[in-house]
Amino acid sequence: MLSTRFTEAFGIEHPIVQGGMMWVGRAELAAAVSEAGGLGMITALTQPTPADLVQEIERARSLTDKPFGVNLTILPSINPPPYDEYRRAIVDAGVTIVETAGSSPEPHMEMFRDHGIKVIHKCTSVRHALKAERVGVTAVSIDGFECAGHPGEDDVPGLVLIPATADRLSIPFIASGGFGDGRGLAAALVLGADGINMGSRFMCTVESPVAQAVKERIVEATELDTNLIFRSLRNTARVAKNAVSDEVVEILANGGEFADVRELVAGARGRTVFEQGDLDAGIWTVGLVQGLIHDIPTVDELVRRIVEEAERVLQVKTLLTV
Ligand SMILES: Cc1cc2nc3c(=O)[nH]c(=O)nc-3n(C[C@H](O)[C@H](O)[C@H](O)COP(=O)(O)O)c2cc1C
Repeated sequence: MLSTRFTEAFGIEHPIVQGGMMWVGRAELAAAVSEAGGLGMITALTQPTPADLVQEIERARSLTDKPFGVNLTILPSINPPPYDEYRRAIVDAGVTIVETAGSSPEPHMEMFRDHGIKVIHKCTSVRHALKAERVGVTAVSIDGFECAGHPGEDDVPGLVLIPATADRLSIPFIASGGFGDGRGLAAALVLGADGINMGSRFMCTVESPVAQAVKERIVEATELDTNLIFRSLRNTARVAKNAVSDEVVEILANGGEFADVRELVAGARGRTVFEQGDLDAGIWTVGLVQGLIHDIPTVDELVRRIVEEAERVLQVKTLLTV
């Protein structure tokens, strides 16, 4: 049993979390992760309206009795979604765990605290982790440069970011970005984290609601097959390398602005990739860890495998040192 401060704080069996994933974090995946003893997360903004989010939460409840959470990602946007209404829906639906990401959780803390909701704030720097601790989150998810999605602009990989966080933070925290197997979980624990958060690895499972072609591409791809887009806009995102992300990188490297790539990066095009399996239809998110992903297991099999491997690795290390 890998019991940690994190598993105790959130009432889960294994220190493994499935982070929010746009278009992927739906009820079936979140519930499967929670059923397997981890902590699954529904992604609020994947649902077109707050009312749809409430239905999705109900759907997850019909699939598992175990705790699961909802991810609320608040990023700068030209046409922002009604964040306050999504937050209200989360509270009214009786959700008890929220993963915040994208900006400071501070504006939401009062409401979440008043309703007994435990917040995991995902961020990419020690300074942001400390700020989240100050405003009262229960735990932090620290996302290294390896991660899928938004790694921030500091470019600090997990091997330094995790122990640097352990040195400064008092509350429990999980390590995120680049995790996909038991060696990773063992390493995270050894580096001082209380568990791991995974995105890409869970996207490549039987229960993940994305097209089979996407999963097969992840299995086939290596750690070299991602692109960092929006670097010049200081809004970096790590995405799959394909014809579209190559073009975006080239346009921006040649002095282009957001307006020049807006159509290429449209969310609707990324959604088409996941729904129809057309890998060059748009931008889609995945991390470096795809170089360590070689199969498409069920979530239960994956979680079990990761825990068993981590226990085995940690035992061997312990035997070596005594
Ligand atoms: C397809 C996909 C979509 C994602 N969308 C979001 C999102 O909407 N909000 C968020 O906070 N993180 C998002 N992430 C990031 C994950 O929650 C997690 O932090 C990241 O995947 C960790 O890195 P890993 O892929 O190496 O495990 C996404 C990741 C993937 C793979």
